[in-house]
Amino acid sequence: MQTADRLEVLRTIVSGWRAGGERIALVPTMGALHEGHLTLVREARARADRVVVSIFVNPAQFGPGEDLAAYPRRLAADSALLVAERVDLLWAPPVEEVYPQGFATTTSVAVLTADFCGAARPGHFDGVATVVAKLFNQVQPDCALFGEKDFQQLAMIRRMARDLDLVRPHADAIIGVPTVREPDGLALSSRNQYLTAEERAAAAALPREMQAATAQIAAGAPVAEALATLEQALIDAGFASVDYAALADAETLAQLHEQPHHPARLLVAARMGRTRLIDNLPVPAV
Ligand code: PAF
Repeated sequence: MQTADRLEVLRTIVSGWRAGGERIALVPTMGALHEGHLTLVREARARADRVVVSIFVNPAQFGPGEDLAAYPRRLAADSALLVAERVDLLWAPPVEEVYPQGFATTTSVAVLTADFCGAARPGHFDGVATVVAKLFNQVQPDCALFGEKDFQQLAMIRRMARDLDLVRPHADAIIGVPTVREPDGLALSSRNQYLTAEERAAAAALPREMQAATAQIAAGAPVAEALATLEQALIDAGFASVDYAALADAETLAQLHEQPHHPARLLVAARMGRTRLIDNLPVPAV
């Protein structure tokens, strides 16, 4: 595996591959890699000749008081995992390479980011959109892979890539990969490590109660009732608060208050102790 931390080096390597007609897949990450990331890498490997993984803890997507300073940084361990997955190139730029002095541009996909995590974390999605647009321009991949775990992020990136012609024009250029879960159903996340043992055990209620809510909606229960039952069940299970529990159209993320007629998603963010957990599940159209 080659490693680049300067744009010039990245571009030289990637343009050599492109000149040879090779197909390139990008897996953007912030490091602290777990099985969820490695699943993205394996999926990338199956779809392309060359796999580039970026590791960049993006300051622009952390708000004041969020965990930027504490966010786990483990470049050496991450790098070893990527070597074992036969990744071709690790792109790990320092902050000043991504945001040089005087950097002044923001990318924003306002329509998909006003609600849910966007409402709770002002500026977060602009930070994600800006860095992902930069990564796409830097690597110019044929396809890029993202976890469905961050469903609002995935929907926003799909729209941005389409609106700005950012990734080569294939219908399947932005690939969403299903969430990888622990045996008790909890979605893998770099933030799970902030949970105490007791909180970790209680957190399994999140996917369990979400499953129950999707089954209720699919069986014809009123959406508002299913969501209210879900919120109460999470509080009863030990969650401190529920930021949102909503049903949304899977593409536009418009909130749905009735049984869905298009593929939909149940989206939840809830706080276990000081840790904010998010998850989502598909809800089939009736
Ligand atoms: O999902 C993430 O890890 C980050 O939001 C991403 C897409 C790598 C952008 O920093």
